[in-house]
Amino acid sequence: MLWLSPIYPSPQDDNGYDISDYQGVDPVFGTLPEFDALLTEVHRRGMRLVMDLVVNHTSDKHPWFTESRSAVDSPQRDWYWWRPARDGFEVGTPGAEPTNWVSLFSGSAWQLDDATGEYYLHLFSRTQPDLNWENAQVRQAVYTMMRWWLDRGVDGFRMDVINFISKDVALPDGPRLPDGLLGDGSSSYISGPRVHEFLQEMHREVFAEHAERLLVVGEMPRVTVEDAVLFTDPARGEVDMVFQFEHVGLDHGLSKWDHRPLRLTDLKASLGRWQAALAEKGWNSLYWNNHDQPRVVSRFGDDGRYRVESAKLLGTVLHLHRGTPYVYQGEELGMTNAPFQAIDDYRDIESLNHYAYEIGVRRTPPDQVLAALWVKSRDNARTPVQWDPSAHAGFTTGTPWIPVNPNRTEINAAAATADPSSVWHHYRRLIKLRHHEPVVAVGDFTMLLPDDERVYAFIRRLEDVALLVVANFSPAKADAAVPDAAEWAVSELVLGNYPDVVEGLRLRPWEARIYRRTLAS
Ligand code: NOJ
Repeated sequence: MLWLSPIYPSPQDDNGYDISDYQGVDPVFGTLPEFDALLTEVHRRGMRLVMDLVVNHTSDKHPWFTESRSAVDSPQRDWYWWRPARDGFEVGTPGAEPTNWVSLFSGSAWQLDDATGEYYLHLFSRTQPDLNWENAQVRQAVYTMMRWWLDRGVDGFRMDVINFISKDVALPDGPRLPDGLLGDGSSSYISGPRVHEFLQEMHREVFAEHAERLLVVGEMPRVTVEDAVLFTDPARGEVDMVFQFEHVGLDHGLSKWDHRPLRLTDLKASLGRWQAALAEKGWNSLYWNNHDQPRVVSRFGDDGRYRVESAKLLGTVLHLHRGTPYVYQGEELGMTNAPFQAIDDYRDIESLNHYAYEIGVRRTPPDQVLAALWVKSRDNARTPVQWDPSAHAGFTTGTPWIPVNPNRTEINAAAATADPSSVWHHYRRLIKLRHHEPVVAVGDFTMLLPDDERVYAFIRRLEDVALLVVANFSPAKADAAVPDAAEWAVSELVLGNYPDVVEGLRLRPWEARIYRRTLAS
């Protein structure tokens, strides 16, 4: 399946996550007939296509919002969250915002609109006003639009921040943040009071008729494991799987910009807990990367000396978990973070707003802010795909919208497809293994060595077939001290990331191996 990030008409303030027309294609990407041709060709190849869909908010240029903001008594006023200034405060003065909520893209989550002297809610940028899902007309308009895409033949949706759509209508202030300026309103909108009801309604109205052929994945920042079971239990009719964020938050301190090195034991505890919790009911999605996360080989691997080995190791570990694996463009090439030196290199609204806020409001030294962007900016994952070693990496003959990573000369698709030992070929082998070995797709999962700081090890089992995965997350040799090590060491080696085989379970730097045994039942 192919997942497309948003291609709808958009002012592109947030790379298309600010949609101004849900039923079209932005000219920067093409036309609707070209989209139809893409869909036909995808289907002809036996593949499917999933659209990214952003319905927690629209662009402020969407006609729904233009109408809503036009007057207090507009028939669509209630389609968004409008509120007057806080009691006792004069409109526009500091602290007059209806709540103290911070926006996920820095600053207040409320924007004063001069036309009517009221504020509107935007959990993301001020050009992304939140839709009011309490209003049944809003929900019906969204469902009608979704059915329109399904009738066109698309095979499902990746639903952006879909666990934010239900808000506590009382809109209470949140606890003050450590810097004392604003508050955290997330307990009022993360998996809010009516979210399951809304998703069940969406399922009935949009998906039920086609449920067998569709894939619906809900992007759900800060979703808990308990809620994920509810969201993905097929009997409840909500979504097929969720994108959860726990494992990609393990290197965060007080915020994502406050970097902490990953501890492998934390990663195992987190992913192992999700594997266990969704073993009976529901389903996991598996990912290291997407357009919001730094490149995994730079983040949890080694993008220097062991780039190829660690990229293959990370792929091996992820793809052997139980769930649906996702590959983000360039991950299969072992693409790395961007070496951006200056704020002018960045394009991402989250990064730019964070920089402006830190410099302007908190007076943080620019070097310190740039150091955080270097590690965590979303632009790390957004540099052009490296097709070939040429100046713009084969991405464009024009000027790319964001600089190409200079390591295109070494890391590119042309080189990877020609080299049988590349990361790309390893990913193909992993995907093939899942297609051919039922134990990878549906076997159960048992984590081993939870306290080992270097070796990630687990077993998959389906009837009499068992797979052992061992992976050394370090540049030093490490023993995989798993139960029955002697038996495993002489069993069939299905796949590894080193060209030669050494006996025993002593793993070389960033080495990963998959063993297979048939067990007496
Ligand atoms: C999550 C998307 O993945 C991200 O790119 C976007 O900025 C926010 N939602 C807001 O739509």
